[in-house]
Amino acid sequence: MNLAALETSFDLVAPHGDELVDRFYTDLFAAAPAVIPMFANTDMVRQRQMLLSALVLLRRSVRNLEAIVPALRQMGARHVAYGARSAHYPIVGAVLIGAMADVAGEAWTPEYTQAWSEAFELVAQTMIEGAAEVRIAAAA
Ligand code: HEM
Repeated sequence: MNLAALETSFDLVAPHGDELVDRFYTDLFAAAPAVIPMFANTDMVRQRQMLLSALVLLRRSVRNLEAIVPALRQMGARHVAYGARSAHYPIVGAVLIGAMADVAGEAWTPEYTQAWSEAFELVAQTMIEGAAEVRIAAAA
């Protein structure tokens, strides 16, 4: 994984964090209207802040991802109750990376898209593993 690209690109969008998460949810709801009801009872102001905090944590941890594996698994487990399914993750990833590219503007490069695709894949896999454990426990 291209860690330097992850760090540089995140630092490009970090000063526009509010715009990023705002744009992310607008684009997500446009691309996948089926997920809108999942957020029906969600405080979206708080939600945007929590997503931004998760991204900042990821930025701080890119050189030590092992350290955040337990937190990612727990976050994936919580997402089962929110109605998130494995099939939702690729669309969330694509929309998030698209929003980062939009916010960064001309400074964004295909290399950054590639680096974030790989990082998101890892994050999603870890969250999905955590979600699978909840389902196995519920079925037992
Ligand atoms: C890398 C992927 C994702 C990240 C980093 C992420 C991050 C977060 C965070 C930090 C929260 C706040 C609550 C918590 O921490 O438990 C949250 C809530 C939520 N997420 Fe995600 N999420 C991801 C993927 C998804 C996917 C694929 C879906 C499905 C569409 C989804 C749907 C939701 C919903 C509905 C809530 C709101 C729950 C509520 O109302 O309290 N998320 N997400």
